[in-house]
Amino acid sequence: MTDTTTDGPSVLLNTGTRMPLLGLGTYRLQGAEDTHRAVDAALTAGYRAFDTAAVYRNEADIGQALRVLLPKHGLSRGDVFITSKLSPKDQGCKARDGCVRSLQQLGLDYIDLYLIHWPGTQGLPVGDKQNPGNRSQSWEALEDFHAEGKFRAIGVSNYTTKHMKELLEGCRVTPAVLQVEFHPRLAQRELRVLCEESGVCFQAYSSLGTGVLLSDPIVQEVAGRCGRTPAQVLLRWAVQQHVPVLPKSCQPSRVEENGRLFDFELSDLDMVKLSALDCGEKFCWDPSLVV
Ligand SMILES: NC(=O)c1ccc[n+]([C@@H]2O[C@H](COP(=O)([O-])OP(=O)(O)OC[C@H]3O[C@@H](n4cnc5c(N)ncnc54)[C@H](OP(=O)(O)O)[C@@H]3O)[C@@H](O)[C@H]2O)c1
Repeated sequence: MTDTTTDGPSVLLNTGTRMPLLGLGTYRLQGAEDTHRAVDAALTAGYRAFDTAAVYRNEADIGQALRVLLPKHGLSRGDVFITSKLSPKDQGCKARDGCVRSLQQLGLDYIDLYLIHWPGTQGLPVGDKQNPGNRSQSWEALEDFHAEGKFRAIGVSNYTTKHMKELLEGCRVTPAVLQVEFHPRLAQRELRVLCEESGVCFQAYSSLGTGVLLSDPIVQEVAGRCGRTPAQVLLRWAVQQHVPVLPKSCQPSRVEENGRLFDFELSDLDMVKLSALDCGEKFCWDPSLVV
């Protein structure tokens, strides 16, 4: 369910809180200066969500940028939605330490959404039988931080249907969000249906195919027809299906461009044309072999 509030379009999570449909992706956003500039551009353009992770090694820079920039933009902590993720190296018995470290690095009392980044454990082969036990132990840690109010919502990332079913069967707290790769060439139909049926918000990453899809001929054709850029078309295709997006750019002009998604609509025909590109192509990692 999506809604447009004064804070921009958002989705209702199963926790009862809302998450903005648009957030700034920050993978490969490095260095205090670049981070500050991108966060500043995002706040100016109306972004109210920021997606980081322990493995991005920029939690501290994002926390610092927000502390300086929120007052400048007349905003406070409650006006923004911060997501971070547990490092695969902290999966299992180190999960609690990983959760504490993210809070410390960001310099926050609470994180709006905390995800298990990956179903596997760093250092273990994907087929290692310890993987399920480790991620279940991590989930229990996230549930405890959720109960203490330190994580307002908890969820997972890169989980396949198999990982999701296993989690949904054994959890005390139903995950609020599943964050996975999603774009016209990767429709993730099975996972989307499972999320819909289970009350889990399906969230997209790499909506631009890490940049590769910007030169797709169909994407360019649609962009030309509606007088928009390829990036806007790819992002609009997702949000028009109520799927939250996290475009990443370190360039302020692109951050602004990627944020202009809510003042136009793709026609039904163009939505169908884009969706027909589905071929299961992945530009990021493939979690299907993680037991
Ligand atoms: N949970 C996970 O495992 C996971 C995995 C991947 C990503 N994510 C999240 O999702 C976010 C987005 O995914 P992503 O970073 O992989 O890729 P993406 O957003 O699909 O694409 C980012 C790339 O496209 C370029 N770009 C952005 N806007 C553009 C525009 N308007 N015109 C031309 N080029 C543009 C960027 O370059 P410049 O920076 O130079 O502009 C960058 O190289 C990540 O940053 C991260 O927060 C999560």
